Amino acid sequence: MGKKVTVVGAGFYGSTTAQRLAEYDVFETVVLTDIIDGKPEGLALDMNQSRPIEGFETQVVGVTTGTDGSGYEQIAGSDIVVITAGLPRKPGMSRMDLLETNAKIVRGVSEQVARHAPDAVVIVVSNPLDEMTALAQIATGFPKNRVLGQAGMLDTARFSNFVAETLAVPVGTVKTLTLGSHGDTMVPVPSQCTVNGKPLSELLPAEKIDELVVRTRNGGAEVVALLKTGSAYYAPSAAAARMARAVAEDSGAVLPVCAWVDGEYGINGVYLGVEAEIGAGGVKRVVETDLTQAERAALGEAAEAVRAKQGDVANL
Ligand SMILES: NC(=O)c1ccc[n+]([C@@H]2O[C@H](COP(=O)([O-])OP(=O)(O)OC[C@H]3O[C@@H](n4cnc5c(N)ncnc54)[C@H](O)[C@@H]3O)[C@@H](O)[C@H]2O)c1
Repeated sequence: MGKKVTVVGAGFYGSTTAQRLAEYDVFETVVLTDIIDGKPEGLALDMNQSRPIEGFETQVVGVTTGTDGSGYEQIAGSDIVVITAGLPRKPGMSRMDLLETNAKIVRGVSEQVARHAPDAVVIVVSNPLDEMTALAQIATGFPKNRVLGQAGMLDTARFSNFVAETLAVPVGTVKTLTLGSHGDTMVPVPSQCTVNGKPLSELLPAEKIDELVVRTRNGGAEVVALLKTGSAYYAPSAAAARMARAVAEDSGAVLPVCAWVDGEYGINGVYLGVEAEIGAGGVKRVVETDLTQAERAALGEAAEAVRAKQGDVANL
């Protein structure tokens, strides 16, 4: 049987993720769901009509789900579920302002996922990301390695793009890394950044690197401020789709993701942005990277900040 992936939430993030997943042509079915009657069906119809042009065979199936859980039977057998349901930020809002509203949505969705796709790997993207990932694990009751969140790939991609544009070099020559939370305690890791293998510190003055670090940390807010309604989705959906593909292909790719950390970096029992090997069962293992003392301390601070909030989500 071919692989099946479900994307919950057919807003900007969910629909672009579904389209990317379909265009990979590695899945038999992409299910796209939403609570807005007809929206996922309409988008699926539209995406399927691009198949002759883009040349992919994957079928996209749109499903409207009800508050009673109706429609969820169609996600049965999903190998992967990407949860994008939830409100995005408006200008001036922090991701944390979405906590209570999105917690209700993510909890409800997670319970249906556990019921109808009990063997799936769950990739969470709803914000605030680290907290919603922790909540999805609690609400599904899935093993912690089978629930992960998307943030680090996006933040890393933003950092790489800023470096490439600043130095006017091809983006493919740039390697960067961000760890920590998908928020104020994001930890861009300049010591791991290279261009054509050369350390970034040899190519840019420290103040310029600091400037790019700050811009990366505020990367989401910069897009929100320009769009005025809604948040980014092209780069975010590229990241989530690549994670789903790594799971589907059991690739073992090492990607920066929000994963359960238990002992690595001396940090215990928290969902945090780290590099991890991704495969069929979700996170195969967290991969520790060499960090400077300051970067390690920042990662520890990020862990404590998200731990406090993640403790609260169990009651939301
Ligand atoms: N992790 C990241 O890096 C990252 C990046 C960008 C956006 N996000 C987050 O992703 C989420 C979605 O963003 P968006 O731009 O697609 O927003 P959007 O408003 O375009 O879409 C959200 C969709 O979720 C649907 N929805 C709400 N409740 C639902 C439910 N119970 N079941 C199914 N669908 C439901 C809505 O009807 C809507 O269509 C937001 O929380 C946003 O903050 C995360």
